Amino acid sequence: MTSTSSLSILNSYYNTIVEDLVSSYSSEISRNIYLDKILSHFKTVLSYNISDGKKIRGTTVIDTVRVLSPESADELLLKQAAILGWCIELMQGAFLIADDLMDHSLTRRGKPCWYLKVEEKESAVNDSFYLYSCTFTLLNKYFPTNIKLYHLFNEIFQRTVIGQGLDLETPSYLPSIDLYTEEHYYTVVTWKTAYYTIVLPILCGILITPSSFLADHPELKTITINIGTYFQVQDDYLDCYGDINRTGKIGTDIQERKCSWLIVQAMKLLEKNDRKRDILRDNYGNDDQNKVQRVKDIYEELNLKEIYQQYEEKTYKSIIQLINQANFNSKPLEQLLKQILDSIHVRS
Ligand code: FPP
Ligand code: MG
Repeated sequence: MTSTSSLSILNSYYNTIVEDLVSSYSSEISRNIYLDKILSHFKTVLSYNISDGKKIRGTTVIDTVRVLSPESADELLLKQAAILGWCIELMQGAFLIADDLMDHSLTRRGKPCWYLKVEEKESAVNDSFYLYSCTFTLLNKYFPTNIKLYHLFNEIFQRTVIGQGLDLETPSYLPSIDLYTEEHYYTVVTWKTAYYTIVLPILCGILITPSSFLADHPELKTITINIGTYFQVQDDYLDCYGDINRTGKIGTDIQERKCSWLIVQAMKLLEKNDRKRDILRDNYGNDDQNKVQRVKDIYEELNLKEIYQQYEEKTYKSIIQLINQANFNSKPLEQLLKQILDSIHVRS
């Protein structure tokens, strides 16, 4: 018998959380029809921005409780994991609406970005805040006394905002791409991606199991951050080389002058090649398609695809080694981390 997938479990609570969220103010809507109208708008915000996608973060919470406490993963625990999974997906929905507006992106999950769907693109900022606030509505309803979870969500949200700030300001803090270093790159992606993508879902799952003490294991943070940065390196690679039909988004990193893994590698490899560095300097960070192509040509000449594949293999092996050496004294936690790493390792 095959067991139900974590995605099916997560999706089975979608109607419940939407009902929880839209019914919060239902007793007040009859007084003003426009209040009714705006609440119905927010229902559309929910369905457009959180109902599709792979939901890696949400399903990771469910995977965590299933692996860590298979015998006590009863319906109640799975429901709690699914609710926390949706809390993270709501936060992710809020981030993506705002990120697409800031990155001038066009598509997300195979559809136009939300800020392109609303009449005034600036109103998408408010919709983003709505999704963010929903995270706390659910935490309040289902975990009213779990202060640790509130603090955790708040801290990780703030770390992500700081990371996004660093990502957005990098072109002005480092006015030449010669200054883009691996050290800077890994700082940005740890803050903007790793915490909310990998650290948060795993900690949420751990904290609601009987093995909650594992959350304080000193090696856990290092390993989950490593998995999270690997995830963002892939995202950067796919921004340039991904199949749009599979990623659902059109890359903008070259145009936006992002401190992406690819440009950092290119500048490192071109340390002694002034001519090609000049070409990158002249063409990186521009909307002109010819300039974007010029950058891609240099990437091609440098064989960055192959360099990336070598990075993938090396990183995978080094994270497995970190897990093996971590002294978790918990085979299930080791198994979980390897399972999550494997699920990321194969994604395209
Ligand atoms: C995506 O990186 C980055 C994030 C999802 C973090 C975004 C964080 C914010 C927008 C903070 C402010 C949020 C609110 C709700 C006020 P990317 O652009 O490299 O990924 P992509 O390729 O998926 O666009
Ligand atoms: Mg973006």
